[in-house]
Amino acid sequence: MKITKICCIGAGYVGGPTMAVIAQKCPHIQVTVVDLNEQRIKDWNDPNTENIPIYEPGLSEIVAEARDRNLFFSTDVEKAIDDAQVIFISVNTPTKTYGKGKGMAADLKYIELCARQIAKVAKQNKIVVEKSTLPVRTAEAIKSILDNTGNGVQFQILSNPEFLAEGTAVTDLLSPDRILIGGDTTPEGEDAINALVEVYANWVDKDKILTTNVWSSELSKLTANAFLAQRISSINAMSELCEKTGADVSEVAKAIGMDSRIGSKFLKASVGFGGSCFQKDILNLVYIAKSYGLNEVADYWEQVIIMNDHQKRRFSNKIVQTLYNTVADKKITFLGWAFKKDTNDTRESAAIYVADDLINEQAKIAVYDPKVSRNKMLSDLDYLQTRSSEENSNALDIFNDPYKACEGAHAIAILTEWDEFVTYDWQKIYDSMHKPAFLFDGRNILNVKEIESIGFIYKRIGS
Ligand code: UDX
Ligand code: ADP
Repeated sequence: MKITKICCIGAGYVGGPTMAVIAQKCPHIQVTVVDLNEQRIKDWNDPNTENIPIYEPGLSEIVAEARDRNLFFSTDVEKAIDDAQVIFISVNTPTKTYGKGKGMAADLKYIELCARQIAKVAKQNKIVVEKSTLPVRTAEAIKSILDNTGNGVQFQILSNPEFLAEGTAVTDLLSPDRILIGGDTTPEGEDAINALVEVYANWVDKDKILTTNVWSSELSKLTANAFLAQRISSINAMSELCEKTGADVSEVAKAIGMDSRIGSKFLKASVGFGGSCFQKDILNLVYIAKSYGLNEVADYWEQVIIMNDHQKRRFSNKIVQTLYNTVADKKITFLGWAFKKDTNDTRESAAIYVADDLINEQAKIAVYDPKVSRNKMLSDLDYLQTRSSEENSNALDIFNDPYKACEGAHAIAILTEWDEFVTYDWQKIYDSMHKPAFLFDGRNILNVKEIESIGFIYKRIGS
């Protein structure tokens, strides 16, 4: 089967960039991205592509090239499903906040809704592709809904997990390390796999396109994220030991990273990992392991999360302790709110938890982030339900100018590694602050000698 029409349900951080790149690289394929959220679709269709709802370097240019040529954004979910040969499901799968598996299992209600909608609308055979990170064996559930509620048409379910990292989504999509496609080992399943392989082969070498059974593909995604997060928790665990012993975690990371078996990437100690995937996927893995009675496996992976929570709390505790055990009514300026640089995404960002701790200590938090909106920051805090919206908005002062944000502060905390922070006039910032002026670098991005020679009391992670 030659694919000429694709639909993607969910115009978020995964669906939007992935479909934009498919459309750019496959001008012969019509790609329609649909979402229930009308505002989001309106923003994707904004005549000025700088205003699209997701900030990713290089994305607005791709959207400008492909939009209305073979890339479309729409709220008409049913029409898009009906038209397409391949339907990607790229909706959110947050951790459950209620019922069985609360706080651990993935909430599949959006996925189920999609499956039901596809079953209702489809009048011809379709390939349904899981793109969201899903617990192992979700494909089975989707298949059961499709087969039992559909109009008698045939569905092939493929798992095609996305490995892009936010902030580098476009380059990751253009030159992926690998593309993974899982499907049934039946002749129909293999046809569906091959059809999707041919889509990616428009720009990815075939030897980088890996095909497996559905369960291996689903589990590989969870495993990849668990391994990546584990590296960060491992180096963060060493960072605490370094702080006690006089070793420097950056030196340790460099020394171990030169061992080719370990490798140098993903060894930056930090205030803790955030993002929509790591925590959710590990909790999910833990839940799955427990549900099979594999308690040692579950406990092993759960430690990655425990360590990450500890690292965030340790950072806020350090601020309080260093500021003479009280931050009440002191102005503490956060540089950065996003969970990493080059994205406006804040899901599970360490900044949210550090702010929450410090507000509990009655600090006044000032924030500057180049891409995150005021509403997003406030709704992130409200989501924790620690205090009322009004109290949160009184405790958080949000600035568009980093120098103004730092004026009169007792301390600055760097929560995101935005490149622009390194280029600031730190002398000017120091001069405008309360003395002694403290600088807590949760990302270890500044030059120690330079910052200390200005007069800052500079605290890095892991040294
Ligand atoms: C991750 C995976 O990398 C990606 O393959 C998957 O598809 C989705 O989840 P993402 O969460 O977008 O991607 O970003 P990533 O670059 O992995 O960073 C996650 C978090 O770890 C960020 O908060 C980042 O700042 C932190 N991190 C990363 C560190 O603290 N230290 C490091 O060395 C690397
Ligand atoms: P991700 O990071 O996985 O892309 P996002 O939350 O950024 O997650 O995007 C998921 C999108 O899916 C949201 O914009 C949401 O409105 C959309 N969505 C969820 N359920 C449905 C549905 N049944 N039909 C259409 N869109 C949906």
